[in-house]
Amino acid sequence: MSVNHPSFGRLDPGRVIVFDTTLRDGEQSPGFSMSLPEKLRMAEALARLGVDVIEAGFAIASNDDFAAVRAIAEAVRGPVVASLARCAERDILRAAEALRPAARPRLHLVIATSALHMRHKLQMEPEAVLDRISESVALARRHTEDVEWSAEDASRSDPDFLCRAVERAIAAGATTINLPDTVGYAMPEDIARMVQDVRARAKGADGVILSAHCHNDLGLAVANTLAAVRAGVRQIEVAVNGIGERAGNTALEEAVMAMRTRPDLYPFATGIDTPALLKTSRLLAATTGFEVQPNKAIVGRNAFAHESGIHQDGVLKNAATYEIMTPASVGWSRSNLVLGKHSGRAALRAKLAELGFGDIGENRLNIIFGQFKDLADRKKAVYEEDIVALVDETAVREHARIRLHALDVWGGTRGRARADLELEVDGEVRRADAVGDGPVDAAFNAIRTIFPHDATLVLFQVGAITEGADAQARTTVRLEEDGRLADGQGSDTDTVVSATRAYVHALNKLIVKRGRASPEAMSA
Ligand code: KIV
Ligand code: ZN
Repeated sequence: MSVNHPSFGRLDPGRVIVFDTTLRDGEQSPGFSMSLPEKLRMAEALARLGVDVIEAGFAIASNDDFAAVRAIAEAVRGPVVASLARCAERDILRAAEALRPAARPRLHLVIATSALHMRHKLQMEPEAVLDRISESVALARRHTEDVEWSAEDASRSDPDFLCRAVERAIAAGATTINLPDTVGYAMPEDIARMVQDVRARAKGADGVILSAHCHNDLGLAVANTLAAVRAGVRQIEVAVNGIGERAGNTALEEAVMAMRTRPDLYPFATGIDTPALLKTSRLLAATTGFEVQPNKAIVGRNAFAHESGIHQDGVLKNAATYEIMTPASVGWSRSNLVLGKHSGRAALRAKLAELGFGDIGENRLNIIFGQFKDLADRKKAVYEEDIVALVDETAVREHARIRLHALDVWGGTRGRARADLELEVDGEVRRADAVGDGPVDAAFNAIRTIFPHDATLVLFQVGAITEGADAQARTTVRLEEDGRLADGQGSDTDTVVSATRAYVHALNKLIVKRGRASPEAMSA
């Protein structure tokens, strides 16, 4: 197979393109929404990681999505920047507009091809879907040379119809054809058969890049993606930590390391700088507040931890006895211990730039530096994750209308827990005392006393950002009000303070979502 692609030129048959959808499929799943600065920071990290394509968002979905695609298209150089668009004129024009500043833009068009989706969701006849594909891909080609077309629910589509749809997209100018397992239903054998079938029967398929996009509903996304690579796709659509709709997408780090560890089966190279995998995974976790599970492959805390004596003995004698890849190859051995209490402003500025916070102004740097010194006094070592959390905290506070001013709590085994809380609401400090079932509950009750609202707490999650008893706690709180969800994150070496910050953050977001002029308007 030799493909001449507008963005990648004559593609080496031994190269697999990594298309990252962390910021689109990943970001659209509950709890993973990111602000514009967070998306930009993540996009820069993905570029440093070496992904080939960044799907920056779905431009028509909202003004925020449009702004994110536009900002990433403006700022990120290196990878191709893509926006998703349905096969509809409005979508395509909006996506093209968002991508205008991109050095290497891609329009990613999608329409469903399974009978189920065409009949019930699109309510279109199959022939009309084929015509829509031709028209919309042709329209997209008038705006970018690099056009990807996706057959949504490809794995449950009739193979003959799928081949006809693929032919239409190629004839109209698509340069990448994506065959998603949208609902995570397929088995590796099904995926291999589908890819082989399209390669063998769809006219023009040998002149485009075929792509796999698998969901993890049955825990098979990575296996299915690898089966697709064996069957001939040369683009894999993945997300950091496997985030994405429902059970998620193919985990970038797992698919890449599987190919790297088993070149006997997958003799393919990617552009990924694998020692940056752990750092990128942690940046995403710190940004969204959702840690990966300890036993998660490649980036989980236990991925290279050997507990049993027999294993430890073997690894000490020869690491290959129980390690199929070196921890260093995915970023584990490089110490990410970064700064201590004697580190100065220049060291902090350099570390912030390395973490992707290059454009922090002098004022913000001073605030972060003060907080860093405070943290370094309370904590033996300050890690990269701590720095990311500090920057997040300052960003949250900068724009917030409600801020944590002071908190004292009393808990333990004797009597009810009590919290004495001060919040700053629109610049005015208000104070309340409340009791609760534990200090976190007491602090949350105090927030409700100071600022009455109807939102209910639907998720509360606490994790340690790093290791040790002095680690900062990272808390995620999700509030729900009238069907609107808002996630907040907070961090602090004190778990109750971290939880309170997270609640206040979520509340601020809810205020913005309601679009009311004053936070008072939320009051019950
Ligand atoms: O799962 C899916 O089918 C998608 C498409 C938009 C590629 O996310
Ligand atoms: Zn998807």
